[in-house]
Amino acid sequence: MYNLLKGKKGIIFGALDDKSIAWKTAERAHEEGAKFVLTNAPVALRLGTINELAEKTGSQVIPADATSIMDLEHLVDESMKILGGKIDFVLHSIGMSINVRRGNHYTHQDYNFTKKGWDVSALSFHRLMSVLYQRDAMNEWGSIVALTYMAAQRVFPDYNDMADNKAYLESVARSFGYFFGRDKKVRVNTISQSPTPTTAGSGVKGFDGFMNYAEKMSPLGNATALECADYTISMFSDLTKKVTLQNLFHDGGFSNMGISTEVMDMFMNQSQDKTEEGLPKEKSKKKK
Ligand SMILES: NC(=O)c1ccc[n+]([C@@H]2O[C@H](COP(=O)([O-])OP(=O)(O)OC[C@H]3O[C@@H](n4cnc5c(N)ncnc54)[C@H](O)[C@@H]3O)[C@@H](O)[C@H]2O)c1
Repeated sequence: MYNLLKGKKGIIFGALDDKSIAWKTAERAHEEGAKFVLTNAPVALRLGTINELAEKTGSQVIPADATSIMDLEHLVDESMKILGGKIDFVLHSIGMSINVRRGNHYTHQDYNFTKKGWDVSALSFHRLMSVLYQRDAMNEWGSIVALTYMAAQRVFPDYNDMADNKAYLESVARSFGYFFGRDKKVRVNTISQSPTPTTAGSGVKGFDGFMNYAEKMSPLGNATALECADYTISMFSDLTKKVTLQNLFHDGGFSNMGISTEVMDMFMNQSQDKTEEGLPKEKSKKKK
């Protein structure tokens, strides 16, 4: 505990259950002395366990669907009343793709689902910042963070339309971040997190194999949800006041790797088991 957020007030979106990155961030923000409002979509409030977190952190919960401007306006107005003033930090920790859930292939999407996923996962960040900006709800030197994934820059086939949503989200962080910085002295960044076993993460096809691969590719190993929360706290603190318009990789080094010796070894072993023609040694003996 460093009292990094002492006296700061915030809004945290996206704590569904104790695996959620937002949940860990709320716990850490509480430990660091912040006061905040928790929010999630009404359906998530019914299905999840957010009230436990609210009790633990002495927070109130206000339902808000991130696709509804009215819900967001109500959330921001009520939060300022509850917290007694303007907001210092906001976490956007929201993601959802119906195409991923239904197993639709990237090349054959249902575009109504694509629009919905984009609305929830990406446009919601613009909508949220627009409400905060227009209501002048952020204190100077405040900090807004959204969570993203590296599929915005590189190809991860099973991440599907979420890759496009994350690319849009990161672009909104830069574009809106300019106006928020210039006019309100507020910073806006995205944190690009390692694969993490949460409800949203585990919904992606082949997630376990993919997590193992990322673990072996990253010199420091995958970053956990708690480690992501720690990094987010630093971005909410006064120690990072001039960091803005950035996409910050929090991934144990994965994003700058080409190949690791651990992954390379797997392929070396495979090729040692093969003949020059590329046939498995066993088979080639039988052939002779
Ligand atoms: N888990 C991973 O591997 C991983 C990796 C990188 C980035 N991220 C990102 O981290 C963020 C948090 O996800 P998580 O992994 O903690 O999973 P999670 O499932 O715990 O959180 C996703 C949250 O989005 C909320 N949400 C969905 N629709 C909403 C709506 N209409 N309005 C408001 N909230 C809504 C859900 O209720 C849930 O709380 C997401 O942006 C996700 O894309 C996750």
